[in-house]
Amino acid sequence: MKKITIPDIVKMKAEGRKIPVLTAYNYAIAKVLDNAGIPLIMVGDSCGMVEAGRENTLTVTMDEMVYHTRSVARGRDYAVVVSDMPFASYQTSVVEARRNAARLVKEGGAEAVKVEGGKRSLRAIKAIIDMDIPVMGHIGLTPQSIHAMGGYRVQGKASEDADRLVDDARELEKAGVFSMVLEGMPQTLAKDITAALSIPTIGIGAGPHCDGQVLVSNDMLGLESPMKLPKYVKRYMDLKNIISSAVVEYVIDVEAGRFPSKEQSY
Ligand code: KIV
Repeated sequence: MKKITIPDIVKMKAEGRKIPVLTAYNYAIAKVLDNAGIPLIMVGDSCGMVEAGRENTLTVTMDEMVYHTRSVARGRDYAVVVSDMPFASYQTSVVEARRNAARLVKEGGAEAVKVEGGKRSLRAIKAIIDMDIPVMGHIGLTPQSIHAMGGYRVQGKASEDADRLVDDARELEKAGVFSMVLEGMPQTLAKDITAALSIPTIGIGAGPHCDGQVLVSNDMLGLESPMKLPKYVKRYMDLKNIISSAVVEYVIDVEAGRFPSKEQSY
């Protein structure tokens, strides 16, 4: 398969092709997603929760994001890799935003970065795009704003909040983001935003009308997470119990002296 590029992702909207996106945090899962034909792999700061068991994403560091991004990039031949700018890596100054975005590309091998927030993040977003690093926006329920939002709450239910989000989406598109995550908002609002933009929207908890969909792979595969499984997740398998059965079988084999057998011995 020919390597996908950022312009290919943008074109998919014009061609009416839906964009399936999943997260990955390591080489092995990135390889599986890439071989299965996922066009965009997202190295989310959700790694702090689903890989490290933390209660939210706020403590994820740049060094951790670089590590996970590099591991994922080594497993990708086909997909575009987009890496998250973690909390406080782009809000403190434009210089910091540029330096940290460059680290994800230079040290991590990402082809684009994702930045949470609408108008309040515009200065950082523009500065990163000015370096020719493509940026994916992220509006609606932005997990890095958990304390300001008072929890993981659906955004844009009131009409003035919905108007603000439409405005944010337009401003981000004007600033040059190549696509935008719409998280945790009513499906009608996501539909309106998707129709108003020429760049692709990638939904998560935003209904079926977005140009693409993203899920945290650990959630859709059925692995443990410190967070209660959100309503929008569809579980495609029960990996936790599949792994658990294999581990129990291994324990029984070792205890019974059945492993290793002649076949596994030199
Ligand atoms: O951190 C993450 O994984 C994300 C996506 C699920 C949108 O931001």
